[in-house]
Formats: sequence, structure tokens, C-alpha cells
Amino acid sequence: MEFLNANLETISWFLYLFSALLFIQGLRLMNSPRTARKGNFVSIVGMIIAVIVALFHSFYNGFASATAIVLLLLGIAVGAAFGFVTAKKVKMTAMPQLVSLFNTVGGGAAALVAINDALVAVNQPISTIITIILGIIIGSVTFTGSLIAAGKLQGIVSGSPVRVPLKKLIDGLCLIGIVLCAYMMFSSNTFGYGAWLPIIALTAFSLILGITFVMPIGGADMPVVISILNACTGTAVAMAGFVINNLIMIVAGALVGAAGGILSKLMAEAMNRSLINILAGGFGDTGTTSSDTGAEMTMVETTADDVAVQMAFAARAIIVPGYGLAVAGAQHEIANLTKILESKGVEVLFAIHPVAGRMPGHMNVLLAEANISYEKLIALEDVNPMFSTADIALVVGANDVTNPAARRTGTPISGMPILDVDAAKNVVVIKRGRGKGYAGIENELYGLPQTKMLYGDAKNAVGSIIAAVKEL
Ligand code: TAP
Repeated sequence: MEFLNANLETISWFLYLFSALLFIQGLRLMNSPRTARKGNFVSIVGMIIAVIVALFHSFYNGFASATAIVLLLLGIAVGAAFGFVTAKKVKMTAMPQLVSLFNTVGGGAAALVAINDALVAVNQPISTIITIILGIIIGSVTFTGSLIAAGKLQGIVSGSPVRVPLKKLIDGLCLIGIVLCAYMMFSSNTFGYGAWLPIIALTAFSLILGITFVMPIGGADMPVVISILNACTGTAVAMAGFVINNLIMIVAGALVGAAGGILSKLMAEAMNRSLINILAGGFGDTGTTSSDTGAEMTMVETTADDVAVQMAFAARAIIVPGYGLAVAGAQHEIANLTKILESKGVEVLFAIHPVAGRMPGHMNVLLAEANISYEKLIALEDVNPMFSTADIALVVGANDVTNPAARRTGTPISGMPILDVDAAKNVVVIKRGRGKGYAGIENELYGLPQTKMLYGDAKNAVGSIIAAVKEL
């Protein structure tokens, strides 16, 4: 029997290790849009194996009764069904808030595991106690922080930086409270079930900190905040894994923590912002910043017929997709226009800015949905030298990522890497009106002599261009 036990234990560890390898391979495959779906699938298989092993391991070792396993399976079924339906139904533009909601659940789960560990753990080594306390703090901050971030993106909570009255005092009191609770939990008499009061108080202080942390940050910076909180969830899960000695939780948590951290840094760099600057709050308010371009720009309007002629007779056309394309859901029209132009011998390329849209890879996912080949999607560094060889650049609902103001100092987007659309011979911008981009400033591109504006919803405007090209 002992031999069987030892072998089952070894097999479980091997299967955990196998799942961990699948997670790593999944992440690697997600590096390219071409293999991203496969990466997702590989990671799902890894997670299914990990869950089955965890359930079997808990049951076999008597950590969970048959009733507990049934309840866990029920929970998994309800959660999986909810996750599947929501992910299927969600609009691409609402994806960031869905990710944030999933993050809320992840942070909450990590906090609950740590709270349970705190309640049952008596006479634990100091390293375990510290890990449990940090798990409660990080999980709880992530829970409320992610909930507020989702609310801001959904428009339920104001997207503008919200000044929390007496923020410094509240934060200070919460931090003192956290230190006091942690001290009380350290004293052996009050750890375990006897420590329910400091455990609850520690959780409450951390939940408040999550709210005061995210409230002052503007909606524009929410994707970065979500990514940071995602990294926090991963860290909290890895900590919980250390406490209950679960290899897969440590590996998966560490992977999420590291990936979230790297992604946050890359996003901040693509906006030329530092993480500290973003977390300091008060930035990214779409309504309060203004351009220092001075006088009102003159914008020249064009028609779909004129754009059709320019595009149909171009040798190379570069399409610049942005958030407006996602809002309009114009990806299929864009794919159709590309096909028609290519049949007329036009080379059509897409210029992809790393933070175009509202989440990393937003444009890649959107265009892939319309079966636009990955080869046509050219990243910022590679496409910028190509603009000067383009007869026309068609900007569809993109704004900040094309604004030459980024090259000057003293503007809210100074230093942000941009697409050099202004180097193209002709530029046509499709947008509904004079709405500003996320940074809330005028786009100097619109006033340049080679730029013409085609006003309208992206889907309708591209539809009109297609109709006009067909008439030629
Ligand atoms: P934006 O600068 O937000 O501009 C979008 C433009 O689309 C607006 O000027 C708007 O003008 C137009 N628009 C909206 N709905 C439209 C519709 N139905 N049809 C046609 N046009 C429409 O978008 P961008 O250029 O993609 O830049 C992304 C911004 O988000 C950057 O500032 C970036 O820093 C920020 N951001 C992105 C991320 C990630 S990871 N992607 C993360 C944090 C922040 P009208 O209202 O006049 O139509």
C-alpha cells in the first residue's frame, strides 16, 4: 500500500510538471498571432490535467471528502459554463473589462485560499505566516482593484481620475491597520481560528486599499492597471501554492506574475509612460488634457468616390486600424476592401501600433477575426520606413497612435512611439467627427496638406468606398 501511495504521489508530481510544461509552451505559442490559438488550446489542456490531478490527489489523500469533491465539481461546472458563455458573448471592445472581472475572481480566490490557510495554520514557520499574510493582502487588493477597473471601463464608475477625499489619511490608517493585524497574527496565540478578528480586519483594510489605489487612476490607463493587478493575482496564487505545497499553483502563479509584469512594462513603454507615473494616478483623463497646437486646424473633407479612385490606382496602400474600427466592428468591410483592391493589383498592408485599441493585440485579434492574413500585419518598427513608399495611408478610427505631436516635447503624448502616417503621399482619415482620441488632444495629422477627412462611422464609410471601387 505504501509502495502504491509513493508511486501515486510521484505520478501526481509528474503530471503537475507536465501541466507546467504545457503552460510554458502555451505562453510561448501565444507570442505570435499565427500560433496564439494553438497556445490557448495547449494551456487549456494543461489546466484540465492540473485540475483533475488536484481533485484526485485531494480525494485520495483524504484532504477532501466525496461530498467536497462533488461540490468542487459543481463549482467548476457552474464557473466554466459562466466563463464560456460570457467569453463567447462579449464584444471585442468590452474584452478588457471582462479580463478585469476574471482577474477579480482570481484575486478573490487567492485571498480566500490564504484566509483559509490563516485559519487552519497553527505553529507554522515564520516564512509560511509571511506568505499567508501577503497572500491575503495581495489577493484582496486585486479583488477590489480589479472590480473598480472593470467598472471604470464599463462606465459604471467614472473613467476620469477620481480624487478620493482624505486618501493619504485612509491609506495611512489602512497600512497601520495591516501592520497591527499582521503583528497580532504573528503571536502564536492568535494565529489559527483564534485569530479570526485580525484576519478579517487585515482583509478589510486590504480591500479598502484596492479601492483607493485604482480610483485616482484614469480610464485611459486601466489596461496597464489590469495587467499589473493580473501580475498581483499570479503572485498571490504562487504564494498560496507555497503554503499548501502545490507545485502547479507555484508554477502557474509565477508564470502569470511574470507575464503580467512584463506586459505592464511593455504597455507603459509603448505609451512612453513609466509604471510609477501611471500608478501615481491622475493621468489618462480623456477630458482634461489639451493640445498646445494653438490655432484651430483646418481639416479638408473628401468623399468616398475620391478615396476609391486614390486607393484603386495606388501601387501600395497602408491601412492604419485603431479603436474606432473596433467600435464600428468594421473588420469584415476592411477585409472585403482589401480583397477588392488586391484583385486590382494594389499591395495592401496594415500598420499595427502596439497600443492601438484598448488592449494588447486588439488589432491583431480583430483583423484575424476577418481572416486577414498575418503576413499583411506589419509592426510599428517595420512599417514606419514603408509609409514614404505608400501612395495612400487609410486611417480607420485611429487617432493618438498617428499624432505627430508625440514627436514634440510638452504634449501629453510626447515621446510615445507613433506610426509615421504623415510620411505617406496621401492620407485619408475615417472618423465620425471631431472626437478626440484617448489622450484627449487634437491630432496634428488632420491639419497637414496631404490629409483629407472622410467623416462617418467606419463600417459605413468603408462600405461606401467598396461600393465606389466596384463602380470604377
Ligand atoms: P484613439 O486614440 O482612442 O482614437 C479612436 C478614434 O476613433 C477617435 O478619434 C474617434 O473619433 C474614432 N472613432 C470612434 N468610434 C468610431 C466609429 N464608430 N467609426 C469611426 N471612427 C470612430 O484610438 P487609437 O489610435 O487606437 O489609440 C489607442 C489609445 O488607447 C492610445 O492613446 C493608447 O495609449 C490608449 N491605450 C491603449 C492600450 C492598449 S494596450 N491598446 C492601453 C492603454 C491605453 P470620433 O469620435 O470623431 O469618431
